[in-house]
Amino acid sequence: MPLQFATRLDNVETSAIRELFKLLGKPGIISFAGGFPDSAMFDVAGIKEAADRALAEDPGGALQYGATEGYEPLRQQLAAFMASKGVEVKPDGLIVTTGSQQALDLLGKTMISPGDKVIVEGPTFLATIQCFRLYGADLVSAPVDANGVDTEQLEKLIAQHKPKFVYLIPTFGNPSGAMLSLERRKKVLELALKYQTLVVEDDPYGDLYFTPDAPPPPSILSLSEDVPGSREWIAHCGSMSKVLSPGLRVGWLIAQPELLAKATMCKQFSDAHTSTFAQATAAQYLKAGRMPATLANVRKVYGERARVMGQALARELGDAVEFTQPQGGLFFWARLTGAGGKVKDAGEFAKKAIEQGVAFVPGAPFYAEKPDVSTFRLSFATADVGKIEEGVGRLGKAL
Ligand SMILES: Cc1ncc(COP(=O)(O)O)c(C=O)c1O
Repeated sequence: MPLQFATRLDNVETSAIRELFKLLGKPGIISFAGGFPDSAMFDVAGIKEAADRALAEDPGGALQYGATEGYEPLRQQLAAFMASKGVEVKPDGLIVTTGSQQALDLLGKTMISPGDKVIVEGPTFLATIQCFRLYGADLVSAPVDANGVDTEQLEKLIAQHKPKFVYLIPTFGNPSGAMLSLERRKKVLELALKYQTLVVEDDPYGDLYFTPDAPPPPSILSLSEDVPGSREWIAHCGSMSKVLSPGLRVGWLIAQPELLAKATMCKQFSDAHTSTFAQATAAQYLKAGRMPATLANVRKVYGERARVMGQALARELGDAVEFTQPQGGLFFWARLTGAGGKVKDAGEFAKKAIEQGVAFVPGAPFYAEKPDVSTFRLSFATADVGKIEEGVGRLGKAL
């Protein structure tokens, strides 16, 4: 008799993207498919120094079991890091999670009962779609344009579906690359308050803006100070993954005390705590004051790659694609127009591209409902500018 797996798995499929990743081993392939930072950008010397300090200064804390809420010195450093971004939070107003992915999982676990509605952006982060569905969520998609989620539509959907919560990636979203405007951020806060609806702000990319003197608008959490009473309706997920290292698996969750307590309880049963060694290393890294230089470096390198990719796309693909030049993050989100009788289905385009030696991810799996099959996502993070030029040239041949 075959193993009888839990019925909750019936709602979730292995991602179509994983299937595509199997093809990436092909020799000579240039990949724009990954969703991760460039390994060559890791501040290895800084992380090594931080790890050494962690072991020298607090070996017990760095290697022993620790508190589920997080390693206290890291909570203090994260509170200071958030303060530098305009968010007032006490160390006990946040918990450390094993990547922000775990924060999302804990939110799913604490908030979603089977059949509950959850509003997400269309498109949104694939792992969130899978994670929330695993808890039985019935996902509803709110449309996104270059200025982020359409708040007029969002209001209609909230009024209609009365969701358990709304999940947004307001700053340089994955995959949309979009940046939610200041006006819309304020509207989101007003909606959270008006409809007493929790809004989850997932913000792993907010620090990755390309023009140093033109940062994105403040986070929704930070702006909640301007809309009295709204803060308790905001949960905010942060991550060290995209700027420092995803391998450290250090993320955090800021939310109102009751939600934080329930999430902590669930975390206790899940992994007891995030690696104390990773937390102590991250704490020392932040304490050493290396973050501003690291941020300046990644912003510069990714900004240059994004600029080169945008120019190359316009040159090589012309009116066969439309896209908005991202102001930060790791991704271009593009749409095949079908102009000149060129391919219009991004799945078909992806197959032709692989034959030409270049990979990207078709957009359809990023939609919880009503997929737009002409969309696709390109990451400019892991290829250098020479590879970007070459890869986009190959995309032009695949059209
Ligand atoms: C929007 C978004 N949220 C969360 C994550 C998870 O990141 P981590 O668990 O490494 O912090 C990612 C990673 O790709 C992401 O794109």
